[in-house]
Amino acid sequence: MRVVKLLEDRIREDGQVLGADVLKVDNFLNHQIDPDLMTALGEEFHRRFADAPLTKILTVESSGIAPALATGMAFHVPVVFARKHKSLTLKDDLYTATVYSFTKKTSNNVSISKKFLSADDNVLIIDDFLANGQAVEGLIEIIAQAGATLSGVGIVIEKSFQKGRALLDERQIKVESLARIKEFKDGQVIFEED
Ligand code: G4P
Ligand code: NA
Ligand code: NA
Repeated sequence: MRVVKLLEDRIREDGQVLGADVLKVDNFLNHQIDPDLMTALGEEFHRRFADAPLTKILTVESSGIAPALATGMAFHVPVVFARKHKSLTLKDDLYTATVYSFTKKTSNNVSISKKFLSADDNVLIIDDFLANGQAVEGLIEIIAQAGATLSGVGIVIEKSFQKGRALLDERQIKVESLARIKEFKDGQVIFEED
C-alpha cells in the first residue's frame, strides 16, 4: 500500500525514538505539519471507511486536528475536536469525559459542545497516536452520551505493544491504523509484518 509505505518511510527518516516507548514526529505531524502527507492520509482513511455513512469526524486537540481535518476534507463532513481542560468546571451544555494520561500521569477532561454532536450522527474518530487508548476511550464515552453511532477509529501511528489497540479490539470496534509499530529496538522503529 503506497500511503502506508510513504508514512513508514517518513517515520524511519524523520522520527526519533525517545526512551523505551515514545516516538517523536515533530517534523511532519506534531509540530511542523506536512500538508501533502496529511492529504494522502486523509484519502487513505476515506478509502478504508468508504462504506460508513459518516456525518462527522471527531478528534481531540491539538495533534489530532491535522489528520482529522484531512479526513474531513476527503469525506466532506465536519470535523469536531474535543477540547481539553482541567477537571473542575462541569457545564450542562457539554458532553464531558475524563481522560487519564499514563504518559503524563495527569487527568484532563475533554468536552464537546452539545451543539455539535447528536443522536443523528455517525462518527469516525481520528487521532495521531494510539498508545494506551485513553483519549479514544474518552471520545467513545462522549459519543455514547450523545447517543451517536461510532463507525470506527482511524489512527495515524499505532504503538501495537501498548494496550490501546487490544482494548478497542476487545470491544469489537473497527480500527484502521496506517502505521503499526511492533517495537522500538536499539533506537530503531520495527513495524508489524516487517
Ligand atoms: P493514549 O491517549 O493512547 O492513552 O495516550 P497517552 O495517554 O499514553 O499519551 C498522551 C499524549 O501523548 C497524547 O497526546 C498522545 O497522542 C501522545 N502520545 C502517546 N504516545 C506517543 C508517542 O509515542 N509519540 C508522540 N509524539 N505522542 C505520543 P496529547 O497529550 O493529547 O497531546 P496533543 O494532542 O496536544 O499533542
Ligand atoms: Na493525540
Ligand atoms: Na500528541
